[in-house]
Amino acid sequence: MTEFTFDNKNAAKSGCKVILTATSAVKCGKFCSEQSLKKLKKAVKNEGFEANFGEVVSIFDGEEKIILLGMGKDNSLFDIQLLGGKLYKQIANATCVDMLVAKSQKLSASEVACNLAFGIELGGYSFDKYFTTKKQEDFPKLEKVNFYCDDEKISLSEYNNLHSVANAVRYARDLCNEPANYLTPQVFAEDIKRLEYLGLKVKILEEKQIRAENMNMLLSVAQGSHNSPRVVVVRWEGDKKSTEPEIGLVGKGVTFDSGGISLKPSARMGDMKGDMTGAAVVVSVMKAAALCKLKRNMTAVVGLVENMPSGHASRPGDVVKSMSGQTVEIIDTDAEGRLVLGDCLWYLQQKYNAKNIIDVATLTGSTMRTFGFEYAGLFSNNDKLAQKLFEDGEKSGEKVWRLPVTKEYDKLMDSDIADMKNLGPVNAGGITAACFLQRFVNSQNAWAHLDIAGVDKDDKGHPLTPKGATAFGVRILSKFVGCY
Ligand code: BES
Ligand code: ZN
Ligand code: ZN
Repeated sequence: MTEFTFDNKNAAKSGCKVILTATSAVKCGKFCSEQSLKKLKKAVKNEGFEANFGEVVSIFDGEEKIILLGMGKDNSLFDIQLLGGKLYKQIANATCVDMLVAKSQKLSASEVACNLAFGIELGGYSFDKYFTTKKQEDFPKLEKVNFYCDDEKISLSEYNNLHSVANAVRYARDLCNEPANYLTPQVFAEDIKRLEYLGLKVKILEEKQIRAENMNMLLSVAQGSHNSPRVVVVRWEGDKKSTEPEIGLVGKGVTFDSGGISLKPSARMGDMKGDMTGAAVVVSVMKAAALCKLKRNMTAVVGLVENMPSGHASRPGDVVKSMSGQTVEIIDTDAEGRLVLGDCLWYLQQKYNAKNIIDVATLTGSTMRTFGFEYAGLFSNNDKLAQKLFEDGEKSGEKVWRLPVTKEYDKLMDSDIADMKNLGPVNAGGITAACFLQRFVNSQNAWAHLDIAGVDKDDKGHPLTPKGATAFGVRILSKFVGCY
């Protein structure tokens, strides 16, 4: 893991220097030698460097590598994070880097440095615990980055919150990348329990207790698997005296989704180890809140189950009675996420005082096909909540776009033999799934549902999300709750 220092005059000679610049008229003060500056100016001219966003020129001066990084104009904080992620690729093989930063049009040098560090942390994530033969030199080496600025003092204090969020993103990615033979519901629950050292309260319901709460929809998903389910409640009380309406988070934690008796085709079925991303995300947001010592109270409930076919598995055609008392006809055992979430939403509202409720789930292939890998689907019964999430999405780079949840669609979920069915017609699958969830939300509460199917992983890799699990949701929700 990379360590960041700010204005550390005693930093070791790094062998790699980076100069961030908004213009091609390069200045470096005492940061590099006259000779290096001359070489740089020559390279700038030869390569037509204009200091556009992400543009790079580099030179070697003896042993020392110097990289000039263009910052472009009119940057947002997110642009700077993206720049940090892009820069990471250039410096991943250095051990130590010294970096000269400058303020930009709208941002202070401190903001620039801290958000670059955040971007480097996100972009520098890797999941390599299962390699046994790779050599040490195949892994990234970047140990330390030290930021300097000529005009302004840059401070570490602003970095603390961003660093907490980066930590939470890493935690979520580790959980999501973990194979399902290791990360069973029990192991996942035990992992969450370990967060208590941060002051979070963690309560685990085992199968018997889940049964006692009548969470039969969730149990119907779990019953085909040897791995028994867990429901985990994570609570953060950052302000015991607060009278503010509390936030409640709910996450889909299907540790593996084979489809059950409605078995999925085998192509890419392995991706379904990531069907617990919603749960990893909401638990990680709680971790971020604890690390930031956020001054508010909030609760997360996650349903951890494995969806498997077996002689014990639930069948298409079965009818189950949810914790809310409403009955559900199971049309397709692969539409299991909503069964898990419905009971968890109900549990949260029955037992805790949450007024603003957000659930996160890799819920439907339909939403994935609608948005591809750019936006997550946002569904809500409350315009204010939806607008705030939209704005936080734009700011955090985890973008969300709202789709309707209206009574015309809701009607499509009525069943001929029970109160509702778990699957509607072939079209509008993301919307009808949201309508199903809404039947488990008290209409007095503000509720939003984020369908992150698709954006939960990145097959190609992006400057801030290396190949694999993205943990989409941690950044937007950490912003929403006020961590950064
Ligand atoms: N976990 C899947 C949704 C999913 C698909 C997540 C692709 C990530 C990538 C969910 O449980 C599911 O199987 N949904 C089905 C429902 C089906 C029965 C119509 C779907 O949307 O395809
Ligand atoms: Zn499924
Ligand atoms: Zn699923």
